[in-house]
Amino acid sequence: MGLDFKIDSETDFFNGLIELQYGQEDLIEMKRIAQKVSWAKGWPGDNVAFWNAEAFMWQQKIEKGKRELIKDELGFLSSGKNLDLGCGSYSYIKSVGFDFSEKMLQFNDNCVEKVLGSLEKKLPFDEVGFDSVTAIFVFNYINHYKSLLLEVRRVLKQNGHFVMVLGNVNDWQKQKEINSFNIDEWKEVLKKVGFVVEFEEKERLWFFKCVKSVNVLKSEN
Ligand SMILES: C[S@@+](CC[C@H](N)C(=O)[O-])C[C@H]1O[C@@H](n2cnc3c(N)ncnc32)[C@H](O)[C@@H]1O
Repeated sequence: MGLDFKIDSETDFFNGLIELQYGQEDLIEMKRIAQKVSWAKGWPGDNVAFWNAEAFMWQQKIEKGKRELIKDELGFLSSGKNLDLGCGSYSYIKSVGFDFSEKMLQFNDNCVEKVLGSLEKKLPFDEVGFDSVTAIFVFNYINHYKSLLLEVRRVLKQNGHFVMVLGNVNDWQKQKEINSFNIDEWKEVLKKVGFVVEFEEKERLWFFKCVKSVNVLKSEN
């Protein structure tokens, strides 16, 4: 009986998510149903519940061409050990995947290891353990972005690469954005934290390709 109830609520919630794609959802009803689904409680206000729900269609939510472009741009990292922050259900190169959404991690089939945790806290990895770190469509959602960048530096080997990609995902995900810095502002932040930065814009995607430099300033947030 209890199991039937759970399956029904999940199915109802899934149906709502599909309707959401077509702008035909009943948000009040969906919020009510989400309360009965363990991984969606608090949706869409709760961030983990929000991204858990996005996980089911996430691989299709980014255009194939953009996925291919990003994959090509990250190709130079593929021989090393990469940490993919906010990996979601899609890592572009083989990585240790890190995300706070268990559902996103569940669907990601390009991870050598999956680690569940928050990017707003100290990362659960040793110093200088990675050849590279990637963060694709992630930093717009982070409050303590400077602390996180310092953490990226900490876990990177000397001269290791950090690649951050930013770009418009879609309006529904935009509601979760916390910051919207321009290119120069991001460059400045990255340099202050201790990266040498190269920037490229391709197909309206921003690629910040960084190398860990020797000097570092302290975080203010
Ligand atoms: C827009 S998706 C990008 C997913 C993937 N990088 C891609 O390119 O398809 C953002 C991801 O960041 C994760 N995320 C957002 N805020 C987070 C946080 N504070 N801690 C851990 N993961 C977070 C979400 O769960 C989601 O998987």
